[in-house]
Amino acid sequence: MTAEYQVNGNVAVITLNNPPVNGLGHSTRSAIVEGMKKALDDAAVKAIVITGAGKAFSGGADIKEFNSPKAMAEPTLHTVINVVEGSDKPVVAAIHTVCMGGGLELALGCHYRVATAGAQIALPEVKLGILPGAGGTQRLPRVLGLEMALNMIVSGTPVPSEKLAKTALFNEMIEGDLLAGALAFAGKIADARPLPRVRDIKVNYPNYEAFLQFSRNTVKAMSGPFPAPLKCVEAVAASITKKFDDGIKFERELFVELVQTTESKALRHAFFGERAASKIPDVPEDTPTRAIKSAAVIGAGTMGGGIAMNFANAGIPVQILEMKQEALDKGLATIRKNYENTMKKGKLTQEKFDQRVGLITGTLSYEGIGQADIVVEAVFEDMGVKEQVFKKLDEVMKPGAILASNTSTLDVDQIASFTKRPEDVVGTHFFSPANVMKLLEIVRGKKTAKDVLATTLALSKKIKKTGVVSGVCDGFIGNRMIEQYSRQAGFLLEEGCTPEQVDKAVEKFGFAMGPFRMGDLAGNDIGWYIRKRRYVEKPQISYSKTADLLCEMGRFGQKTGAGWYDYKPGDRKPYPSQLVNDMIIKHSADLGVERRKISDQEIVERLVFALANEGAYILEEGIAMRASDIDMVYLTGYGFPLHRGGPMFYADTVGLPNVVMAMDKYAKGRHGDAWKPAPLLAKLAAEGKGFNG
Ligand code: 3HC
Ligand code: NAI
Repeated sequence: MTAEYQVNGNVAVITLNNPPVNGLGHSTRSAIVEGMKKALDDAAVKAIVITGAGKAFSGGADIKEFNSPKAMAEPTLHTVINVVEGSDKPVVAAIHTVCMGGGLELALGCHYRVATAGAQIALPEVKLGILPGAGGTQRLPRVLGLEMALNMIVSGTPVPSEKLAKTALFNEMIEGDLLAGALAFAGKIADARPLPRVRDIKVNYPNYEAFLQFSRNTVKAMSGPFPAPLKCVEAVAASITKKFDDGIKFERELFVELVQTTESKALRHAFFGERAASKIPDVPEDTPTRAIKSAAVIGAGTMGGGIAMNFANAGIPVQILEMKQEALDKGLATIRKNYENTMKKGKLTQEKFDQRVGLITGTLSYEGIGQADIVVEAVFEDMGVKEQVFKKLDEVMKPGAILASNTSTLDVDQIASFTKRPEDVVGTHFFSPANVMKLLEIVRGKKTAKDVLATTLALSKKIKKTGVVSGVCDGFIGNRMIEQYSRQAGFLLEEGCTPEQVDKAVEKFGFAMGPFRMGDLAGNDIGWYIRKRRYVEKPQISYSKTADLLCEMGRFGQKTGAGWYDYKPGDRKPYPSQLVNDMIIKHSADLGVERRKISDQEIVERLVFALANEGAYILEEGIAMRASDIDMVYLTGYGFPLHRGGPMFYADTVGLPNVVMAMDKYAKGRHGDAWKPAPLLAKLAAEGKGFNG
């Protein structure tokens, strides 16, 4: 049973029991209605308490049921709430830990609500691209007032129950045992009549029209491509402008509209994608993890410093090892400066600053780091240097320590082979700036032990990263795919585009930054260095030499004051460069390519479908475990627009047969070899399926 029924004296207790968060799926909804019937039919029962077992009152509607017949099957959440609110025996919600979405809406349908302190109270639907669809937009303003309810509904942010203790949301805060307190409360109100109903409260707000207009303007400016926040305002407005039942009907219409939008589907995909990423089919969830109480980082450069900050931010002491005092001092000073900047922005207290800086120490000696539970290597990207470092780590690290490499392109299996304990070696590929970017690619070597993987995944959560497991291949998931994207960007320049045109088209699609602005920010010389190695190794792969010509002009990007764009001193704004555009045009002429006008649609399709096609290879080779893992890599590490759900999800929304058709068209152009559909893509398209089922 997903809800249990018990009678305690003359009070019936309905306990939601649908782990992990008592989601209000169809069977739970049915069980609540059944419980209500029993209680109403039993003359000995004078009052009813609804509560939740385990670690939640309720996390809300079961999101997995959305867009399936179960979501609409009777009893719907509306029906459940009507049964509760219409009950002629008082119903008390006993709230603890988590009370969100449909869970809060159910509580608002009860006649009374009691809660313990520390419960997270929220209507977080907006974060899933929808709005509260079971009366939340109509009832919450009636207990919290228009302004506070609107803020909660538009932001979706949880508020601790004790902060709402004095509002009409709660009748009593319970200290100690919740159920005992709720039963005692039920005893007190068992005979009180008439039963209070939230729907009967009137929302008052002087000059509400001006407030609502202000809210619409602000929310519109902040919600970007997402339609839900503005609809939330409209629904909340109805709580004051319409009669209760009309408001409910209006809310329902908006909910049904939003739940079908691609934006909402993309957000739900990301919600489940993030959670799925931490599951590895052959590594059971109860795999014991190794304790990580101390860490070491080798190399205090760009990445080493940021990686060390992650440990310190999570309260884990970390030592940074460098070869020379000067490099160490420079690295430690950069870390300090980063923290100081955060403090200046008011995002870090002096106390936290002292704590974090105090957790980071420097050393020049391997002897001192041997007892660390994990060591992350972030030295130069050179196999010879990695070999030296890993041989040394094998000598000095205690048994059971995890030996991680932050390599971005090198073979983790080869790195592991430099040690006598390859099972302890794993790739931890952080993204720059490592203290900011959410993504952590966890590279599973052939011999990486299961508990090492489980520990690294757990660590990624502890340091607030999205950990995604990748197999070993050149570039892992993210960089292997971006190579195809960059190739297309280069070809587009040769065929008629300017860097600005490509960037603008991609940014209009929703990317945080187009490929050329990104190149200027990261440094064009990094790609130049990689290409020199890669295309010598793989001469069969065609690529545009435009970026090499740019580097030969010394235009490495913002750091040299010039890249694909011109920059003015002290100004990061890119200005189109006549010099670069002339170079590009000349290069087309040298190649004998007649430049043509290229549409934004073609630009976006060529860049994004190139990603999805490489993603399909990665999936069928088993480098990624699931399509949503690839999407998580792109959403959290590469600025892919969240409302598009990631490259694989986006390809699904376009329809894989349409993707293949577009690819066939581009295959007839230059460099047609790039457009051969991966066998998995071709197969799924032929079967009318998507990457995500
Ligand atoms: N429906 C289905 N599954 C849910 C769920 C929900 N509403 N909320 C959480 N889960 C699942 C997660 O997918 C995860 O499953 P897994 O173990 O198989 O991966 C599991 O519950 C645990 O979730 P977390 O890892 O997130 O656990 P935490 O303890 O960190 O957080 C939580 C718990 C705060 C409840 C968090 O899961 C959360 O924010 N959930 C979403 C809440 C939400 O958005 N509710 C609104 C739903 S829409 C709605 O109610 C519509 C209504 O207005 C009609
Ligand atoms: P960096 O050049 O900024 O820093 C490397 C540091 O390692 C230098 O301070 C150097 O003195 C030190 N070092 C070199 N050999 C050493 C040794 N034997 N012992 C101790 N210290 C040594 O390089 P960066 O950018 O931090 O890169 C480090 C690693 O991270 C590389 O493997 C790189 O591929 C990877 N990476 C880099 C990213 C980036 O955006 N910079 C992103 C993701 C991964």
